[in-house]
Amino acid sequence: MEGWKADLAIVYNLATPSSGVQPSFRTIALWRGLARSADASVSTDLLDRLPVSSFGDVARLVLERPVYEWIRAGAGDEEAALDNVAAFRRWRLRPHVLVDVSMVSTATDVLGAPLAVPLLVAPMALQRVVDDDGERATARAVAEVGACLIVAVNATTSIEHIRAAAPDATLWFQLYNWDDRDALARVVERAEAAGCRAIVPLVNTPIGVAHTPPEAGFRLPAGLTFGHFEESPGLDARNTWSYIEWLASRTGLPIVPKGILAAADARRAVDSGARAILVSNHGGRQLHRAMATLDALDDIVNAVGGSAEVYLDGGIRNGSDVLTALALGARAVTVGRPVMWGLALGGQAGVRRVLSSIAGELVEDAGLCGVPATAHTPRDIVVRSPTATGSVPA
Ligand SMILES: Cc1cc2nc3c(=O)[nH]c(=O)nc-3n(C[C@H](O)[C@H](O)[C@H](O)COP(=O)(O)O)c2cc1C
Repeated sequence: MEGWKADLAIVYNLATPSSGVQPSFRTIALWRGLARSADASVSTDLLDRLPVSSFGDVARLVLERPVYEWIRAGAGDEEAALDNVAAFRRWRLRPHVLVDVSMVSTATDVLGAPLAVPLLVAPMALQRVVDDDGERATARAVAEVGACLIVAVNATTSIEHIRAAAPDATLWFQLYNWDDRDALARVVERAEAAGCRAIVPLVNTPIGVAHTPPEAGFRLPAGLTFGHFEESPGLDARNTWSYIEWLASRTGLPIVPKGILAAADARRAVDSGARAILVSNHGGRQLHRAMATLDALDDIVNAVGGSAEVYLDGGIRNGSDVLTALALGARAVTVGRPVMWGLALGGQAGVRRVLSSIAGELVEDAGLCGVPATAHTPRDIVVRSPTATGSVPA
């Protein structure tokens, strides 16, 4: 057994001596005690030795099942969630050789803000469900790595508290299509005042769907509250493009609609005042047969040309995925579920580990592909694989 698996087995068995018992809060406490112990030789060592690709599996052991399922699940038959990941396997890298890659830079800028890495943390609600510090921990990690955090309006920490925890973090703010425009205007003002640099309205949720299989039984744990409302307004299914125009007229911040998959919609968004497009199917948590986001990217990049920045959301699991998306024209990518696993296992250090591991793999792959600056990744380093089926390994 690999070293980290043996360690984990010890932790797991200690906490649940009788086999077959679901991981309990004691397991979580014990894991966290080890992962975050003041004795750094145990703590960082254990977290550092876990491959980031296994964080989801480890989280399955330590999280209560409803919480784990809430994070992992896609809507319906989960085809969209699975295909987001599988889509990357349909591409291969075709390196250029004899390029000076003694220094590989991952620096970029998004909407004029410099980032050390082309990574945005996807807006994800309720982060205090998996970590006491929740959104604050994520924001601090994002600032350490030089990424950007898109704060969810459904956060369990207010934007003011997130900003206070991470004064230097690059923050954007995601909105739901609330049916109460006054409430929307107020929350946009709060985001502006807290120094957010963009507003990210969701446009793929005209109606809500249950993200988690109801039988998993996920509920907001007692004692946790929302940071931006006491009771959420409903969703407005009547919105049309005038909603984007209305938002653009309410704020000087750039508007970045999240949830676009069609090239014509991307153009329409730009015509309505959007400054950038976040290509997304909500991690497969809304329309269960939505196309994979990577498959939508090329057309959208071509459709908007240089008139708007384009970012890819969904399925990013490692540095090779990032390089593929950059080659296909994304200026940056979001990371969703892997960040939640990192937060669950190690709080701020766990999120930092996830982001820096993906960034490290990006540097390695870029170097091997002859790309000294990932902001200028050439299109011709990716080819559609003639053989790959793109199926997700079990
Ligand atoms: C636990 C969880 C909560 C989420 N909450 C929100 C949310 O509040 N607002 C939002 O726009 N998207 C939300 N999303 C979707 C993410 O922003 C993102 O689109 C998706 O996770 C990207 O796919 P990935 O997980 O494969 O990286 C959530 C996703 C997860 C996994």
